[in-house]
Amino acid sequence: MDFMTPCLFLAALYAMAGLSHQGLISKNSPTDELPSTKAPTYLERLDKTVKTRLNPTESENVTEPTCYPELGCFPTSSPWFSLTRPLPGPAAPEEVNTALYLFTRNRPNGTKVMLWPKIDLEETNFNTTKPTIFITHGFASNTSNEWMHDMKDAYLENMDANVFMVDWGKGAKGINYLRAASNTRIVGAELGRFGRHIVGLGQQPDQIHAVGHSLGAHISGYFGKRMASINSTIGRITALDPAQPGFEVEGPEVKLTKNDAKTVDVLHTDARPFIPFFGFGMLQPAGDIDFYINGGALQPGCYTVEVPPNITSLADLATMTVETLSKWVSCSHGRSYEYFTWSLKNKDCFFVGRKMTLVENVAKVGTLGTLTLADPIVDSIRSCTKDNCNILGFLSSRLPARGAFAVTTNDKPPFCKSRADEMKALYNTISLGVAGAWDKIKTPFTMIETPKLTKFGLN
Ligand SMILES: *[C@@H]1O[C@H](CO)[C@@H](O)[C@H](O)[C@H]1NC(C)=O
Ligand SMILES: *[C@@H]1O[C@H](CO)[C@@H](O)[C@H](O)[C@H]1NC(C)=O
Ligand SMILES: *[C@@H]1O[C@H](CO)[C@@H](O)[C@H](O)[C@H]1NC(C)=O
Ligand SMILES: *[C@@H]1O[C@H](CO)[C@@H](O)[C@H](O)[C@H]1NC(C)=O
Ligand SMILES: *[C@@H]1O[C@H](CO)[C@@H](O)[C@H](O)[C@H]1NC(C)=O
Ligand SMILES: *[C@@H]1O[C@H](CO)[C@@H](O)[C@H](O)[C@H]1NC(C)=O
Repeated sequence: MDFMTPCLFLAALYAMAGLSHQGLISKNSPTDELPSTKAPTYLERLDKTVKTRLNPTESENVTEPTCYPELGCFPTSSPWFSLTRPLPGPAAPEEVNTALYLFTRNRPNGTKVMLWPKIDLEETNFNTTKPTIFITHGFASNTSNEWMHDMKDAYLENMDANVFMVDWGKGAKGINYLRAASNTRIVGAELGRFGRHIVGLGQQPDQIHAVGHSLGAHISGYFGKRMASINSTIGRITALDPAQPGFEVEGPEVKLTKNDAKTVDVLHTDARPFIPFFGFGMLQPAGDIDFYINGGALQPGCYTVEVPPNITSLADLATMTVETLSKWVSCSHGRSYEYFTWSLKNKDCFFVGRKMTLVENVAKVGTLGTLTLADPIVDSIRSCTKDNCNILGFLSSRLPARGAFAVTTNDKPPFCKSRADEMKALYNTISLGVAGAWDKIKTPFTMIETPKLTKFGLN
């Protein structure tokens, strides 16, 4: 807690205002031209210290972008490489080993989808008339993790859908974060290829919803960009604390943007400047609806007394073990998926976001808001209108308010319960309205009827 100093507050403020901080200045040009034969190789571009730390391989001493059948080419020049993004090229698709598992109500144990050499859904019970969800994990993870199963189960409980879990565990483990961050491009391309296939089978792009955590949020962004490029913009992307290092200050080709789907909603839970605070989530708004939860920086219940790893540049990431890194970032960064799944599971418990300016949101960083009646955000929920409040989770894309929203939670599950009577009454009113609206909404991506937020809830 002491660690949340005014200094942090200022740094976050600068970062959110789009100003440079800690020398992280975007140097990339927006053009994505192919490197000429004279272009320096990855090895030549690397700063000497970075080179020693990254320990690049001989095969990275090339200038031509690597191309793969059906996935396209992966240039490693600007904007993919910059001073703030000393990333090697992505590993080969076989090494990243992207796999899809389909879960449905009839087959809750999942079926592995054949992706190569031809996509084959014959053995699955994929149904193009149902909404399709893709859930993608982040760094140093795979589909064995509990949260993906929790979220998948919550989806299937609420919705008769095709739920795909995207596994890129081999590529996410990598040797270090920088390599894993680069491998996201391959996973995005694999999803783009798959998305094109299912749209060809008759799936409505509007009915596709990609949910990704951390690096998985950027994978969802690459997926969305590829679908948009074939005029099949997907319905929604939910970005759960999109990864900051190597993305935040980069161009729109490189990171998740709000143009990657019809609606992009973002949960910010670990948004501190990476250097020196080692926050792993993006600080700046990245979607149409950005929820800054408890200020967005550090989650209650996640305060740590440990000294953060000694990070002075992005290249330091190359020297850190995956274990150190994932242990450090797991709590606040991981809360993003916990809150989202919680919102799917609990119909009588909602996270109401109150529209705030970025500066107001950042002000919450300093106070680490939790649910109390004295909390100005909680207090202001009482005067919610359809234009200034939104509800985090499944419903957010169908409510009309857009912008940055402040949300407060409890410090442990149930994150949105156990508060004073007055709050309970308020939330009960809201939940009754939403429960009604929920029943009316038959398909998840069609705005059949927009529930309207009124003074004390939805009706
Ligand atoms: C990279 O390639 C250049 C020529 O293309 C060669 O001179 C240089 O030694 C190579 N560097 C490494 C580390 O392999
Ligand atoms: C799913 O797996 C469980 C445990 O392995 C098994 O008991 C159950 O029969 C399976 N369900 C289906 C529908 O295959
Ligand atoms: C696909 O789903 C629709 C309704 O969601 C259902 O009517 C249809 O029978 C399903 N198709 C198959 C092949 O199961
Ligand atoms: C998934 O990750 C866990 C934890 O990192 C690991 O123990 C397990 O072996 C991995 N599973 C696969 C199939 O790679
Ligand atoms: C996408 O739509 C635009 C405008 O309708 C059209 O010019 C373009 O050819 C389409 N692109 C593809 C890949 O279908
Ligand atoms: C952090 O690392 C830098 C250089 O890598 C070193 O100069 C500095 O003393 C280190 N700080 C701590 C607290 O270990």
